Amino acid sequence: MKMPNITDELRATVRAELPEIEEISDPDLRDKVVEAWAFALAETSFRSISEIPGAGAPGRNVLKTGTQADHLRGVAIQCIRVADEFKTQFPDFPLKCDILIAGALVHDVGKPWEFAPENQTRWEDDPRETGWPSIRHPPYGAHVCLSVGLPEAVAHIATAHSREGEAILRSLECTIVYYVDHAYWRILKAGGMLADTEAVRPPAPPP
Ligand SMILES: [Fe+2]
Repeated sequence: MKMPNITDELRATVRAELPEIEEISDPDLRDKVVEAWAFALAETSFRSISEIPGAGAPGRNVLKTGTQADHLRGVAIQCIRVADEFKTQFPDFPLKCDILIAGALVHDVGKPWEFAPENQTRWEDDPRETGWPSIRHPPYGAHVCLSVGLPEAVAHIATAHSREGEAILRSLECTIVYYVDHAYWRILKAGGMLADTEAVRPPAPPP
């Protein structure tokens, strides 16, 4: 797989779209979060995170309003608030804040690959060739993270924030991102904020 052409314009776009990057204290980690998103976008026809539909997966859990950048920011901000509350209640809470914020911001960095119309068309045309999708966004996101030199703990959050994490033991920071990310979609669904949600019905009574 050839290296994508990462431009300074893409890097500047990512910094503008994800202002929570500035909450990361380590400047090298900040730069690598930017690099991961610029790398992921440069591999596709997307020129910004906001061009990616606001959805949990292509065609599923689709926001009525908002983009993928809004989702990332929402998850990152909520992770910071959850962490702050635990640290207030438990001063010895062994949380690595930089890893949590970086992981929250890149947990979906594999989505440009999975959502790219050119990839979806290719996979749909011949699913027997490489599958459909060939690689879901969590493991692809780990590939992106490791390709730009992000720490293993951040790549772990990308790969294990969804159902791929059921086969392994999640880290503390990944556990927070996993629950916040799932709560994000579940709460929006309960609030009628997802376009593809079926009519709400009570559960079927037991037989
Ligand atoms: Fe997500």
